[in-house]
Amino acid sequence: MENNNPIGLFDSGIGGTSIWKEIHELLPNEDTIYLADSKNAPYGQKSKEEIIELSIKNTEYLLNQNAKIIVVACNTATTNAIKVLRAKYKVPFIGIEPAIKPAAIHSNSHIIGILATQGTLNSELFHQTAEKYNDTKIIEQIGHGLVGLIENGEINSKDMDLLLHQYLEPMIEANIDYLVLGCSHYPYLIPQIKKILPKDIKIIDSGEAVARQTKSVLLERNELNNETNKGKAIFYSNSDSRVLTEILQNKYKVISKDF
Ligand code: DGL
Repeated sequence: MENNNPIGLFDSGIGGTSIWKEIHELLPNEDTIYLADSKNAPYGQKSKEEIIELSIKNTEYLLNQNAKIIVVACNTATTNAIKVLRAKYKVPFIGIEPAIKPAAIHSNSHIIGILATQGTLNSELFHQTAEKYNDTKIIEQIGHGLVGLIENGEINSKDMDLLLHQYLEPMIEANIDYLVLGCSHYPYLIPQIKKILPKDIKIIDSGEAVARQTKSVLLERNELNNETNKGKAIFYSNSDSRVLTEILQNKYKVISKDF
C-alpha cells in the first residue's frame, strides 16, 4: 500500500465530518476522501442487512479511489457492519462506537445517558459493550428525527430544540452525570445540548479517540503519509451538497456524485 494514498471515510451523511475534523487536525498532511451517503440517510432505522449493503457500496467506492485505510465514521454502520467489512476486505477499518467505557469509568452517580440511533442501540456490539459495565445504569434514548433535521440544515430550529428537550429531560431527572453522544451527527448539537443540560453533566463523543486510533494503526503499519505539505481533502455527496458545504464552513469544495 502506498503511504501517500488517502484515508477514506464514510457516513450516512454529513455527521461523520465531526470525525473527519478530528482526523484532519491530528494528521494534517494526510489526503482524505469523505463520502456523505446522504441519499440513503438516515441509516438508523434500516435493517442490519441494508446497513451492511450500503457499507459495502461505500467501501468499494473508497477502495476504487485507493484508500489505504477506511474510517467508518458512523456508529450505526460500525455496530452493524464492521465485522462483515473486516472479513471481506484486506484494508484496515477503524470504527466508531459510543464512548460508554470512559463515561462508565468516570461516572460518580453510576448513571449515564446515551443518545444514539435505533440501529446502534439495538446492535449486538452495543449490547456487548454495555454489559461490561453492569454497575452503571445506562439510560438509552433513540434520537428519533435528529439526523433528519441535521441533514436538512435545521440544527438551530425550534423542532430540534423540542426534540432535545424531550430526550434529555428524563435523563436529567434520572441524575446522569455523563451524556454519551453515540452518533457522529450529534457533536453538531453540542451548543444546543449545553443550553439544556446542567453544567455538571459532561458530554462525550468518540471523535478524538477515533483519530488517535487511525494514527496508531497507520503508524503500526508504517503507512503514515511522509509528505510535509498539507493534505488534500475531497468530499463527495450523493444528495443536495449544500448542507455539507455549509457544515464545512464553505472552506472545501463538495463534489456532487452518485455513488
Ligand atoms: N451518523 C450516523 C451514526 O453515527 C448515522 C445516523 C443515521 O444515519 O441514522 O450513527
